[in-house]
Formats: sequence, structure tokens, C-alpha cells
Amino acid sequence: MDHTSVFLRKFLYDEGIDPDLRRLIHTVSVAGKYISSLLKAANRKMAGTQNTSAEDQLEVDKQADIILKDMITALDYVHDYASEEQETSIKTPHKNPKFSVSVDPLDGSSLIDVNLAVGTIVGIHPAEKLVDTGRHMLAALYILYGPLTTLVYTSGKGVHEFVLCPEGEFVLTKSHIRMKEQGSIYSPGGLRSEWVSAHRNFIDDLVITDYKLRYSGGLVPDFNQILMKGGGLFSYPALQKAPQGKLRLLFELYPLAFLCEQAGGMATDGTTPILDLKLEKLHQRAPIYIGSKHEVKKAATYFQGSNFSDTP
Ligand code: F6P
Repeated sequence: MDHTSVFLRKFLYDEGIDPDLRRLIHTVSVAGKYISSLLKAANRKMAGTQNTSAEDQLEVDKQADIILKDMITALDYVHDYASEEQETSIKTPHKNPKFSVSVDPLDGSSLIDVNLAVGTIVGIHPAEKLVDTGRHMLAALYILYGPLTTLVYTSGKGVHEFVLCPEGEFVLTKSHIRMKEQGSIYSPGGLRSEWVSAHRNFIDDLVITDYKLRYSGGLVPDFNQILMKGGGLFSYPALQKAPQGKLRLLFELYPLAFLCEQAGGMATDGTTPILDLKLEKLHQRAPIYIGSKHEVKKAATYFQGSNFSDTP
């Protein structure tokens, strides 16, 4: 940090966004600092409970959720807090609320015991539009806990990266991040034996055209790599036993799709833009193809007229 550093707080002020939205994003960044410290405290204990998706919870999964919930719902203009760790959303008693917030407190936490990167994903929606489509989102961000803790953010005015410096402030490191039309890496989720044939043929196409494999099993670091390298493709497809794939539309896909589009990329479920998919229930899942335009459009050519639930 030096005298030319641009702090997140100042950046948000200069962006001219709604002051309450500014405070909300700043609050999320403070929660991110606490979660970053929790992870450094090396508590890898299982909580002995499962979340709504029947995944085993770590103590830090629950703690991260509590930190975010307590800090976000204390803001008297927040209406609804929806967390991937909880079955239903929490409605606040606040009068005249402006925003509803979706949170995946610690995505990829099964990677904590092997010391790989994990992340927090946040979507900010107008108060009454949490269950709608992703098109109304006001802001989206993720915090990536790797060798550095970074925060990647958009409020619809480009995508910007901040790094948590030792003094405890998020400082701007990259502004107006853009993806190229085409990249050279691919990150394919799901078991190959479970892929539908259209997806398998598409991935084989990437392999024979010399795309390099880059998959850690953490959505935030895997997407972050594609964004920061300027392109490529992350996919988590429809599976034969799970036609809606694995990843959650509200908690994971809407925020990343918003960021991706803002960086000049694309995100679809194979054919339909992720942000146009209608959310019917909080924990709804969807397949995803996200990254630079060339690869996402190419995926669509494999899905035209194909059946998501076919067998190999
Ligand atoms: O949704 C949790 C998550 O861990 C994501 O972060 C990641 O992209 C995905 O699941 C990995 O799934 P799999 O273990 O099937 O590759």
C-alpha cells in the first residue's frame, strides 16, 4: 500500500452508486476480512451437520454464514438474506428496505482440508426481486481466499479487482478487466461418465483444438483464473442423473454470470443466458457454460436440437 493506493471504499464513492449499496458492499468486504482470518486460523473441523444440499458442513462454513448474516441483516435497508447454507431466506423486519442479498458463504469448502483456494460469492438484488431472473441484479462480487485475498466486483460499470493488503484494506489492483473473444484454457466440471453426449463432444472439440486443462474443483478460483487470464471456458454441465447439473443459480451462477458479461464474456446453460433463466425456488440448479464468447457460442452449436438427458 502506498500513497497512490485506491481503497475499495473510495472507489465505490467515486463510482457514484447509491450510498446504501456502497455501504452494503463495504460491509460484505469487512465480512470477507473476518472470513479470511478464520481460514488462516486453520480450523478444519467438520461441524457434524449437513446443509440443504446434503453436503457435510465444516465449522468455518457455519461461521462464515453467521458473520455474513449478522453483518448484512443489521443494515436497515436489507430486506432478505438468502444463504446457500440455509433452506429458506431470512426476512428482516426493516421498514423501507432497498436490497436483498444472496450469499454462498464459503464455496468449495471441501477443498479446505487440501489447502486449495475457496471463495465467497455475493449477489445484490432489488429488495422484492430476489426470486426473479438475474437481469435485475444491482451488484455482484466474489472474494477469493488464495495466497492473496482478492475481491472482484461489479455494479454494472465494469469488473474490478481489489487485494486485501496487510494493513487490512482492500486496494484496487485491476480495473475494467476484459475477456478476449477467445481463450485457451478449459475447466470442465462433473464426471465424464455422467456427461451427456453433446457436452462430451463439445469438450473433445476443445481438447483437440489444444485447450489446456485447468480445473481445481473450486468454482471461484476456477472462474477467477479464466477471468484473469483473459478468457477460456468453465463448464458444469447437465448430468445424466442430474439434468440440472450441480451448481446453484441464485447463489453461484447469477453473480458470476453478471461479472462475466460485464467483462465482455458470456454465460449460458448451453443455450439460454444464465441471467435470463427464471428462478422458481431458492436452491434451483442449472448447467453452466461461462467464459469468453467464442467458447460459449461454440457450446451452443453442440446443444442445438440435442437432448440434455441423453445417454452416451
Ligand atoms: O458448488 C460447490 C463446488 O465445490 C464448486 O465450487 C465447484 O465448481 C464444484 O462444486 C465442484 O464439483 P465437483 O466436485 O463435482 O467437480
